[in-house]
Amino acid sequence: MNKKIIIANWKMQKSYLEAIDWCNNYKLEIEKLAQETKKNLILCPSYETLGKIKEIFENSNIYIGAQNCSNFLLGAYTGQVSAQSLKEIGINFCIIGHSEDRKYNCTNDNLIGQKVKMLLKHNITPIICIGESLEEKNENKTQDVIKKQLDTILKEVDSQSYSKLIIAYEPIWAIGTGVTPTGKEIFNAAEFIKNLYDIKIIYGGSVNDQNVIEFKNINNIDGFLLGTSSLDFQVFKKIVLLY
Ligand code: PGA
Repeated sequence: MNKKIIIANWKMQKSYLEAIDWCNNYKLEIEKLAQETKKNLILCPSYETLGKIKEIFENSNIYIGAQNCSNFLLGAYTGQVSAQSLKEIGINFCIIGHSEDRKYNCTNDNLIGQKVKMLLKHNITPIICIGESLEEKNENKTQDVIKKQLDTILKEVDSQSYSKLIIAYEPIWAIGTGVTPTGKEIFNAAEFIKNLYDIKIIYGGSVNDQNVIEFKNINNIDGFLLGTSSLDFQVFKKIVLLY
């Protein structure tokens, strides 16, 4: 995947019907946008909509991703969704380790590592979220935190698979807050990661149609993970066009 990447993480922000409506209403426009800008656009709606949205975008240039998956193959795991099922409905990408999942569902780096392996086994690209808290940033621990997260997550991943991964650097304090690192800080974090692991990096956390004008010049990242700014098609479109 050489083109620039923009991922829409809808979290649990849209209901089933709202998500389906969005896709039906903007299908043609978003396909045209992806084609004309030559960017990889990946929509990540919530689980219950995935099958239907995959149908809407059948034979499309728009990719559909999930927001999580189980670390287990199949079995007695109530409430979980397997990578195999995701693959069977045609899902190509899966966000894992999002800070909201770490916070509310107690996900940890060991589990995330197992999910990476499970996704790779099913040929789904893992989008691995990492990043420091505000407290850690203030204590100048950003690099230590990032390194520890990646070392644990990737400890059992063969380096030959690194080209099949995406790392989303998402400082926790920047998610949904409207506050972001400076372009230089994002560059430095990405550079630090690249020196550790040869993996594609994107940035996420309060990206909007204003700061993307500065952030698009950060030349060691390959795209953005959008939360809030991906919900309204017009804002999303503006960011894709500006990037
Ligand atoms: P945000 O969310 O763009 O609303 O900050 C980003 C994310 O959670 O990935």
